[in-house]
Amino acid sequence: MAADPTVGRHVNGTRRPGGSATLAGRSVARIGYGAMQLERLRGDREAAVAVVRRAIDAGVDHIDTAQFYGDGFVNGVIRDAIRPGDDVLIASKVGAEPSAGRIPLRAAQRPEQLRDGVEQNLRSLHLDQIPLVNLRRLDSGPGLRASGDQVVDIDDQLEVMTAMRDEGLIGAIGVSSVEMDGLRRAIPAGIACVQNAYSLVARGDEDMLELCVAEGISWVPYFPLGSAFPGLPKVTDEEAVLAAADALGRTPSQIGLAWLLQHAPNVLLIPGTADIAHLEANLAVGEIVLDAATVAALDSVPTRAPQTPLG
Ligand SMILES: NC(=O)c1ccc[n+]([C@@H]2O[C@H](COP(=O)([O-])OP(=O)(O)OC[C@H]3O[C@@H](n4cnc5c(N)ncnc54)[C@H](OP(=O)(O)O)[C@@H]3O)[C@@H](O)[C@H]2O)c1
Repeated sequence: MAADPTVGRHVNGTRRPGGSATLAGRSVARIGYGAMQLERLRGDREAAVAVVRRAIDAGVDHIDTAQFYGDGFVNGVIRDAIRPGDDVLIASKVGAEPSAGRIPLRAAQRPEQLRDGVEQNLRSLHLDQIPLVNLRRLDSGPGLRASGDQVVDIDDQLEVMTAMRDEGLIGAIGVSSVEMDGLRRAIPAGIACVQNAYSLVARGDEDMLELCVAEGISWVPYFPLGSAFPGLPKVTDEEAVLAAADALGRTPSQIGLAWLLQHAPNVLLIPGTADIAHLEANLAVGEIVLDAATVAALDSVPTRAPQTPLG
């Protein structure tokens, strides 16, 4: 989890965006890549592969994905973009499956569905082991909530996750969209990261972030900019962010990501983009140093309620 104060280098000699930190027992760049936005490039697969390839060539060695992103499309793109020797830590997630609707997902929380999810990821990514798999709960954050037989005790889910780790199908376990009780119950299983919705405008989980710092667990926030979903608060709409961007000659997105990176040493970024120029801007965030006055102004931004709840 600990961030390396010296800027590390990837095995291919590339500078690591954001410096280095440990995730799932491996050294990775603190700025990774979230692949969910690639769903939008379904009609231009070559462009999607080019985005992932550009990220890897620039030193990204931590890519977040899911089988349910584009029903296997995104995993296939990642598989095709990676070349032998790239040494990329792929983090996937289980607990949902594709569905038609405004949120294109439905819950798949039962233990046998978690196992099926891991097996599907192994097949579509062409891997013998997925280095890190997040157990995507439905306890917190915007979006789906479990009902009926999809309400499953986290202990029963951790049992199948640890069994799959023992079998070597997954290298490490993370938890996602959990609340404090779930996090406390997951810690004894040995978890590598927490992936909750968290950003400058969504800081309800600060207590969990602090617990993760104390426990040596990485904090890998999703929706670090507030997401692409309309109705959810956007980091880039904040006056304090716009003022800092103006003062530092950076973009508002870069300020929001720089604040996250500076906020705690266990933060790893997985901003999502389908745009190579945005990708490059996000990878440059490691160069930004926010001074104390700017951090104080950004810290005073309150958590914003969604205008339109997802789900
Ligand atoms: N564990 C979970 O349940 C869960 C849930 C959701 C997401 N995730 C993961 O978290 C990752 C990040 O979340 P996200 O992609 O939903 O939301 P996000 O990173 O907060 O925001 C993505 C949005 O920001 C835009 N953007 C990104 N970089 C930008 C830049 N430099 N300048 C301007 N706009 C920029 C993107 O548009 P462009 O494409 O046009 O750049 C997109 O509209 C996902 O990709 C996924 O891997 C995990």
